[in-house]
Amino acid sequence: MSNKATLSLEGKNFEFNIATGSENEKCFDISSLRSETGYITMDPGFGNRGYPIEELAEKASFVEVSYLILYGELPDEIQLQNFSAGLKEHAPLHTNLEHHFSGFPKSAPPMAILSAMLNLVSCFHPEVLEVTSAGGEFDKTATLLLSKVRTIAAFAYRMAAGKPINHPNPRLGYCGNFLHMMFSDPYQEYLVSPVVEKALNLFLILHADHEQNCSTSTVRVVGSSRANLFSSVAAGVCALWGPLHGGANAAVIAMLEDIRTSGHKPEYYIEKAKDKNDPFRLMGFGHRVYKNFDPRSLILKKQVHTLLNELHINDNLLDLALELEEATLKDDYFISRNLYPNVDFYSGILLRAIGIPLYMYTVMFSIGRMPGWIANWKELLDHKQRISRPRQIYTGKTKRHYISLMER
Ligand code: SDX
Repeated sequence: MSNKATLSLEGKNFEFNIATGSENEKCFDISSLRSETGYITMDPGFGNRGYPIEELAEKASFVEVSYLILYGELPDEIQLQNFSAGLKEHAPLHTNLEHHFSGFPKSAPPMAILSAMLNLVSCFHPEVLEVTSAGGEFDKTATLLLSKVRTIAAFAYRMAAGKPINHPNPRLGYCGNFLHMMFSDPYQEYLVSPVVEKALNLFLILHADHEQNCSTSTVRVVGSSRANLFSSVAAGVCALWGPLHGGANAAVIAMLEDIRTSGHKPEYYIEKAKDKNDPFRLMGFGHRVYKNFDPRSLILKKQVHTLLNELHINDNLLDLALELEEATLKDDYFISRNLYPNVDFYSGILLRAIGIPLYMYTVMFSIGRMPGWIANWKELLDHKQRISRPRQIYTGKTKRHYISLMER
C-alpha cells in the first residue's frame, strides 16, 4: 500500500505523506499543504467582519469595535448608548473581591493576578455560570467582563505600585476611566489627555481580535467543554502570557533595552537571531499567519511617531527599533522566511509613551483581546460546537505486560 495520498486540485496533483501510528492508525501529513497549495484546512473560525483595520483604527472607538466583534455590526446610537451604559454600570468590583488583591505578594505577576481574579469574578456573579445561550444573560455577562477586566488590571497595577486603588469614575469613557483608575492619586486626579486616550483606544482596537491565535484557540478549547465564559477567558490569559505570544510586547522592549545597554550594533543581534545554535530570537518579528507585513505593525509604527511628537517625548528605543527593522529588510535570512515586524514590535513603545509600566504590557494586550475571546466563546454557543478533542497518532510502545520489580 502506497504511503502517499494524492490531492487533485485545479488540474494539479499534490502528494502528501501518509503516516502510521504504533496501533496502525493512519493520518495525512499536511504540514506542507499551505506552502505547496496555498490552501489551509477548514477551521470553524471566525468570518471576516469586512471593515479594514486601518479605518477602524482611525475612526472607531474600542467600545464600537467591541460591539462589532460581539454582534457582527457596528452599533447604532441607541445600541451604543445601551452598551456604554452597561460598561459603566459593571465597572466596579464587589468589595469582597477587592480584598483578594491584598492577598497577592507585591511581586505577583499581574497576568497571574488577572487570570485568578477573572475566575474569582464568577464567584460573586454566579448567574454568569448559567449562560448557555446568546442573548439576555450573555449580553450582560459579556459587558460585565469587558468592563471589569479594566478595573482588575488597574487594581493589580495599583497594588504592585504600592498605591491606593482608584474606583471607577462613571463620568469617564472606557479608556479614560481605565487611565483614571491607573494613574489618579488621592491628592491629584489624573487629567485624561486626549492624545493619550486616543493612543490607548488605538492600541486596544489593534489587539481586539485575531482569528484562531494561540490564546483565542485556548478560550475555544476550554469553552467547548461548556466551561463558563470567565474560566475560558482566564485560560486565554494564561496562554497569552507566553513570550512567543502576548508576552512578546514586553520582551521586545527588554530586548531593545539590552541592545541599547550592550553597546553592540543591531547587526550583532541580527546575526545572533540567525544563529541556529543561539536561542536568541528577534522578539516582535515573525508570524505564523502573516507572511509579509502585519498591518497592525504598520499602523502602530506610524502612530508611535505621532504620539511621541505630540507628547514631546524623545524615546531612542524607537530609533533603535527602526534601525533594527531597516537592517532586517536587507537580510536574506529574514526576507526568505518572511520575518517582518508583528503587532508586538512597536506596541511596547506606545505603551511606554503613555506611562504603562513594562510588567503591565501583556495585561494591556488581554484587555484589548477580551472582545475577541468573548466573541469566539459565544460562537461555540451559537454553533453548539462539539467538545474539542484533537486526535493524535500514537507513536509509543505497543502492547506489553507488567513485569515485577525483581525482573526489571
Ligand atoms: C502574537 O497568531 C496570532 O495571530 C498571534 C498574534 C495575535 O494577534 O494574537 O498576532 C500576536 O503572538 C504575535 C507574535 C509575537 N511573538 C513574537 O514576536 C516572538 C518572536 N517570533 C517567533 O517566536 C515566531 O516568529 C512566532 C512564534 C511568532 C511564529 O512561530 P512559527 O510560525 O512557529 O515560526 P517558526 O518558529 O517555525 O519559524 C520559521 C523560521 C525558523 O527558521 P528555520 O527553522 O526555517 O531556519 O523562522 C525563524 C525560525 O528560526 N524565525 C525567527 C523568528 N521567528 C521565526 N528567527 C529569528 N527571530 C524570530 N523572531
